[in-house]
Amino acid sequence: MSRSIATQTVDELGGPRSVLARQRRDHVQLDRLLHRLEETTGAAQEGVLQRIDRLVFSHAFAEEAVLWPVLRRELPDGDELTLGVEQEHQEVNELVAALERDGQDDHRRPARLARLVEVLREDVRDEEDVLLPRLQEQLSHDELRRLGARWELVRRIAPTRPHPTVSRRPPGNALSALPLSLLDRTRDVVDDAARRGPDRFAPFGRAVSSGLALVAGLVERMPPARTGDRPPTSR
Ligand SMILES: [Fe+2]
Ligand SMILES: [Fe+2]
Repeated sequence: MSRSIATQTVDELGGPRSVLARQRRDHVQLDRLLHRLEETTGAAQEGVLQRIDRLVFSHAFAEEAVLWPVLRRELPDGDELTLGVEQEHQEVNELVAALERDGQDDHRRPARLARLVEVLREDVRDEEDVLLPRLQEQLSHDELRRLGARWELVRRIAPTRPHPTVSRRPPGNALSALPLSLLDRTRDVVDDAARRGPDRFAPFGRAVSSGLALVAGLVERMPPARTGDRPPTSR
């Protein structure tokens, strides 16, 4: 009988470098940010949302590219299990893309934010209570640590923004990861510089950021980026 990774000791998870311990650390940080998102409004809330985006998109992208293929290989019901979390990830991508597109004054924003919090919490529960314990049953502590190193590596070079058109499964997500990651991370630097720099720099920063977003939109719509998804996740 598998036990939630939420209630296990770090040693039981295979040590601090195990993929299970690494996942749980991110989930704890996400939980803190979700509480702050619910407590804040206006510019402060926008700042928290941006921190959530930068945490969850690279985290989830690396799950889709590295972890879920292992579950599909190891478990007879791996396809169904991973399809459920891929659909949650897809909804997160669509919600954040809509929040960014429609801005802070849109009347749907409160409902979208509430749903975003809800689906992110559901995703963490599904992973900690079901998927990751099942993975734990299949792999040794050594294997969990090796998988942890691979997941961490991919997470560090993964896209940091929503890409709802990209496939949630390889090969589409793997093929588009590098160009999208470069575009996203350049945008992150430009946006941060525009926010912190002199006011006269802000319009220029916004124009560069919009241009990069446009290019990312083209990349994620290219046919290779869309290959691999299992219906009904595909859009
Ligand atoms: Fe996760
Ligand atoms: Fe996830």
